Amino acid sequence: MIRLGIIGAGAVAHFHAASAARISNVELAAVCDLRDEAAERVASPWGASVYTDYAVMFREAGLHAVIINTPHALHLEMVVAAADHGLHVLVEKPMATTVADCDRMIRACEEAGVSLVIGQIQHFLPEKLAAEDVLACGELGRVLMIRDYRTTDYRPGSRPDWFFSEAMAGGGALMNIGGHCLDRSIWFGGAAVGSLNASTLKRFGVPVETDGAIALTLRNGVHVSISVVSDAAQRMDEVLIVCEHGTISCSPHNGTLVRCNGTTRTVWEPQPEDIQEGFFLQLQDFIRVLDGGAPKVSVEHARHIVEVILASYQAARTGGPVELAETGNSISAGRALTEVS
Ligand SMILES: NC(=O)c1ccc[n+]([C@@H]2O[C@H](COP(=O)([O-])OP(=O)(O)OC[C@H]3O[C@@H](n4cnc5c(N)ncnc54)[C@H](O)[C@@H]3O)[C@@H](O)[C@H]2O)c1
Repeated sequence: MIRLGIIGAGAVAHFHAASAARISNVELAAVCDLRDEAAERVASPWGASVYTDYAVMFREAGLHAVIINTPHALHLEMVVAAADHGLHVLVEKPMATTVADCDRMIRACEEAGVSLVIGQIQHFLPEKLAAEDVLACGELGRVLMIRDYRTTDYRPGSRPDWFFSEAMAGGGALMNIGGHCLDRSIWFGGAAVGSLNASTLKRFGVPVETDGAIALTLRNGVHVSISVVSDAAQRMDEVLIVCEHGTISCSPHNGTLVRCNGTTRTVWEPQPEDIQEGFFLQLQDFIRVLDGGAPKVSVEHARHIVEVILASYQAARTGGPVELAETGNSISAGRALTEVS
C-alpha cells in the first residue's frame, strides 16, 4: 500500500484526495495545511491524519509519496524536503517560479533516487485526450497552427491573496493560467518553443499581470498564439488546432469537435466529471511511475513551460522578440517527451 500525503488543502486538494480513493493500492494517509480546518476538511472523508507542519508530517506519517499543492514559490523547499525524506513527489504546476529552482528540484530528486512528476493536468483531461487520439491517427495530417484562448479572473479578491504576490506566485495570469495554454500548445504542436513575442497588462490595480498574449513559433515551424484575458463577458477555454486536412476545437465547455471537409463531428461530449477524471488519470500515471513506468509528462516539458513564461515576461518588458536557447532540455521538450507510457 502506498501511503500518500498532501501538502496544501486549498482549491485543488479535494480533486487529488478523491483520486487517491479510487486507486486500490493507494491510501491517503495525511494532509497538511497551515490552516488546520482546511486540512481537516480534505482529510476527514478519507480518515487521513491532519498536520499543520509538513516537516512533522514527513517525520511522523510514514509516507511513501506526497502531492504538493501550495503557492508556487513554496514548491522548491517542499520538493527538496520531500526528496530528503525519500518521498516521491507529484507537485502542482507551475513547477517553480524560476528555471534555477526547477533545476534544483530535479537535482534533489535525482540525488535522492525519488520520482518527480509535475501536475500538468492538460495531458489528462478527457477532451484533450480525445484531441490527442485524433492527432495520433493521422487523419488530419500535420499540425500547422494553434490558437489558444482562455479567460480567467485576476480582479482583486477573486482568488487567494498569494496569487497577486510576485514573490509567491512568480507572476500573474500568464504564470498561472497561461502555463496551461503553453502545456497543451507545446504538446499538441509537437516541439519546443524557438522564439516568441509577448505583451502583458496589469489592470484592476493589482501588482501582477491580469492579461497576456504570447505569439510563439515552435522549433518545427508551428505558430501558436495564446491569449489569457481576465473578466471577459464570455468564459472561454479553447484550443483550436489547425492541421493540413482539418481542425480540432477542444474545450471543457463544448468538448472536442473535428472539422474536416465541411463536416463537423464531435469526438468528446463534455461530462460533469471530466476534471475529476483528469486528476484521477494524472494520479494513476504518477503511481505507475512509482512502479517503474515512464511519466506521461516529463519534468523537462514542465521546466520548459516555466522557461517560456519567463521568456514571455522578458519579451513583454523589452517589447522585442526573445529567442530561446536550444538547450538539450528545450529541444527534447514537447511531444517526444510526453508520450503515453
Ligand atoms: N491543475 C490545476 O488545474 C490547478 C488548478 C488550481 C490550482 N493549481 C495549482 O495548485 C497549487 C495550489 O493552488 P490552489 O488554487 O489550491 O491554492 P489555494 O490558495 O487554494 O491553496 C493553497 C493552500 O496551501 C496552503 N499553504 C500555504 N503555505 C503552506 C505551508 N507552508 N504548509 C502547508 N500549507 C500551506 C494554504 O493555506 C492553502 O490552503 C498551485 O500550484 C496552483 O497553480 C492547479
